[in-house]
Amino acid sequence: MMQSAEVRPESVPAVTPFETALGAEVSNIDLSQPLSADQFAVVEQAFLDHLVLVFRNQSLTDEQHLAFASRFGELEEHINKPTRHEQYEKVQVFSNVKADGTTLGVHPERGTLVWHTDKSYIATPSLATVLRSPAIASEGGDTLFANTQAAYDDLDEATKRRIAGLKAVHSWERSREKVGERPATPEQIAAAPPVEHPLVRTHPVTGRKGLYLGNHASHVPGMDFEEGVQLLAELERFATQDKYVYRHKWQVDDVLMWDNRGTMHCVTPYDAVKEKRAIHRVVIRGDRPF
Ligand SMILES: [Fe+2]
Repeated sequence: MMQSAEVRPESVPAVTPFETALGAEVSNIDLSQPLSADQFAVVEQAFLDHLVLVFRNQSLTDEQHLAFASRFGELEEHINKPTRHEQYEKVQVFSNVKADGTTLGVHPERGTLVWHTDKSYIATPSLATVLRSPAIASEGGDTLFANTQAAYDDLDEATKRRIAGLKAVHSWERSREKVGERPATPEQIAAAPPVEHPLVRTHPVTGRKGLYLGNHASHVPGMDFEEGVQLLAELERFATQDKYVYRHKWQVDDVLMWDNRGTMHCVTPYDAVKEKRAIHRVVIRGDRPF
């Protein structure tokens, strides 16, 4: 039986942290219904404590998905128009399934295969991302999350001193080049010109510091270009060691949400010819990193 049928409207959600560096499952909750203030408070605190939340067996419509995400703040659309939902402009669809039911044969968005934090190429990157999974691959297509706050904490003091005060330039155009995706269009470049963010950002609610990197990060201003690229790569390798990572193995009708202010993520490849995978995505507007 679906979990949603068993949950009473005023049930208290249960939060079960994973044994990994981040992530927790929230159960005894039905996201198809509006959450009470008390229920939402439990979810919001778990989100701040664990950075990644998993809700299983949530069969949502796009409207319900949007309604749940909007409890966390204002929603925003994406500059990548080819992935926009036909009906709901604030829903993106990452799917390799064509309208006739056959598969595209290629991964729908190569930029998701490399470590990144969502929309760091704009001045006010996404606070959180909320995904749901109408269709999953039987093998591959896992989403990996790295806890960039735990990684920052573990850096040696010399490295912390070296990177304190440094910035990185984040660029949608450069990010597309690096992964060999459809090049950024002039319209996209105008909508998202390169922007600088601190290499170490402070979470505006919890005050924790974390590395702020990923594929959208291009180079370090004021530093030799290649040297900056190497520094970013070195820090990314450090932050994505297994001990900082949670691997999400999808089930149909998962809802998965994460805090972009303290994490990076990527998806593992799957057989885009044989497998059918569809993920719907909604993002919540964030603040300027500091
Ligand atoms: Fe992403």
